[in-house]
Amino acid sequence: MPAATITPADATATSHPAPSMRAIVQHAYGSADTLGLGEVARPVVGAGEVLVEVRAAGLDRGTWHLMTGTPYAARLAFGLRAPKNPVPGFDVAGVVVAVAAGVTRFAPGDEVFGVGRGSFAQFTAAREDMLVHKPAGLSFAQAAAMPVSGLTALRGLTDVGRLQAGQRVLVIGASGGVGTYAVQIAKALGAHVTGVCSAAKADLVRSLGADDVIDYAREDFSAGGATYDLILDVAGNASVTRLRRALTPTGTLVMTGGEDGGPLTGGMDRQLRALALSRFVGQRLTAFVNKEHFTGLERLAALAEAGKIVPAIERTYALADAPEAMRHLASGKARGKLVIVP
Ligand SMILES: NC(=O)c1ccc[n+]([C@@H]2O[C@H](COP(=O)([O-])OP(=O)(O)OC[C@H]3O[C@@H](n4cnc5c(N)ncnc54)[C@H](OP(=O)(O)O)[C@@H]3O)[C@@H](O)[C@H]2O)c1
Repeated sequence: MPAATITPADATATSHPAPSMRAIVQHAYGSADTLGLGEVARPVVGAGEVLVEVRAAGLDRGTWHLMTGTPYAARLAFGLRAPKNPVPGFDVAGVVVAVAAGVTRFAPGDEVFGVGRGSFAQFTAAREDMLVHKPAGLSFAQAAAMPVSGLTALRGLTDVGRLQAGQRVLVIGASGGVGTYAVQIAKALGAHVTGVCSAAKADLVRSLGADDVIDYAREDFSAGGATYDLILDVAGNASVTRLRRALTPTGTLVMTGGEDGGPLTGGMDRQLRALALSRFVGQRLTAFVNKEHFTGLERLAALAEAGKIVPAIERTYALADAPEAMRHLASGKARGKLVIVP
């Protein structure tokens, strides 16, 4: 199908006579109580952007951070007093309805997934280089559950962690959004995987392929004498000392997150300490902030198509129930991923 190329100015008028759409809107930082269902103007796509009709939108901790405006440093990029974009949500899967000038990889009617700006809505705009074609074997909900969490796990284990087949890997926070992908990807790449999570989610982590599971309430992963070639530290805020104790002498620590650092730094000080120490020890201590790009999404899509990863979705929500979904995410009780289906 030839691409319906439209200019930013006529994008809305040409393809969608109705100027508005239903969306979750947020006019101040805060809890999920700040989210409400409303009518807003449909996004206007700029050069190199694609307008996507949202079939499913995934939740992730980044969306929660943006909702609460924490750590405060994030407000420099996203808006000092309130979010610049009042529609939350990054992860999206849907159908292309219009493309702007300069877009070459997509045409109206294409089924896509990736990262949009404001996906908790009927329509979202996304940069072309943040989208890929959706594998036919994946549902929209499954595809929308993958981008941010799946890419963080993939990049943390491979590009940053340099995982090799046969290595012993420890995933701390194995039951959450990032961790459920990390366990599956590490297994797919030939690692021996140990997951750390609560007892309530041990069955989930085992079902994803983990060889061993440690219940963090009953057992200290750093106290048993076992050591790992690679630790992906996603949750729990373990001290760098404990993390190093569980590493082999030349092992690699990859820190992606942690939620106990307070609103100012969000725990980044722990990661900065590890980075500074890395220069003086035999172990490689690293941290990274993921950047989404279609090349990573293509790698994820290939893993999903091959059946190597299956998104672990606990449940889906209607658009109007986005506040309830965000509360469930914030509670820490979610098993894997949550998805909104408008
Ligand atoms: N660097 C980046 O670019 C990047 C990208 C994405 C996410 N992140 C960060 O990564 C972190 C996790 O994200 P997520 O999406 O996976 O969050 P999530 O879906 O909320 O999952 C976190 C999981 O960790 C488990 N957990 C809590 N305390 C733990 C402990 N002491 N030990 C082991 N597991 C524990 C929780 O369940 P149970 O306790 O019930 O097992 C939960 O399932 C967040 O801080 C997020 O901001 C960073």
